[in-house]
Amino acid sequence: DSLPSIEEADLARLVDAFYARVRMDVELGPIFNDAIQDWPEHLEKLAAFWSSVMLSSGRYKGQPLPAHLKHQGRITPALFDRWLNLWKQTTEELMEPDAALALQAKAARIAESLQLALFFRLDR
Ligand code: HEM
Repeated sequence: DSLPSIEEADLARLVDAFYARVRMDVELGPIFNDAIQDWPEHLEKLAAFWSSVMLSSGRYKGQPLPAHLKHQGRITPALFDRWLNLWKQTTEELMEPDAALALQAKAARIAESLQLALFFRLDR
């Protein structure tokens, strides 16, 4: 009965591996490759994001929702399933099982709230 052991270096490796796969994915790849010019900066930002989520480090100061709203026309619910499947595969391969499960659960909750904001419209 303890929290999964996750370190900054694990998260940096995970983020690098995940986005390498995202970029090669036939459906997700083009969206990210069109949107992101500076990949080292994006990877650093996403490592900080996961560090804030999993380790409460406070390293990420951004706002994920507006970043995704910008791409609303291209992002679909099916793409979220694809993203989460790739996250599941990558966390299973790179992390200890308990850490992988914790990372998957967090991603699923964040994906759910992003999808509510992106796809659940009250104004129509
Ligand atoms: C940023 C796409 C799901 C976390 C971005 C950007 C794109 C993108 C294109 C760059 C935005 C820009 O600056 O133009 C997607 C797609 C997703 C997805 C297509 C699924 C279909 C997720 C999920 C999470 C997440 C599930 C978290 C668990 C982030 C974060 C940023 C980001 C933290 C950086 C925001 C910032 O600039 O501070 N995403 N995303 N994304 N995404 Fe996603």
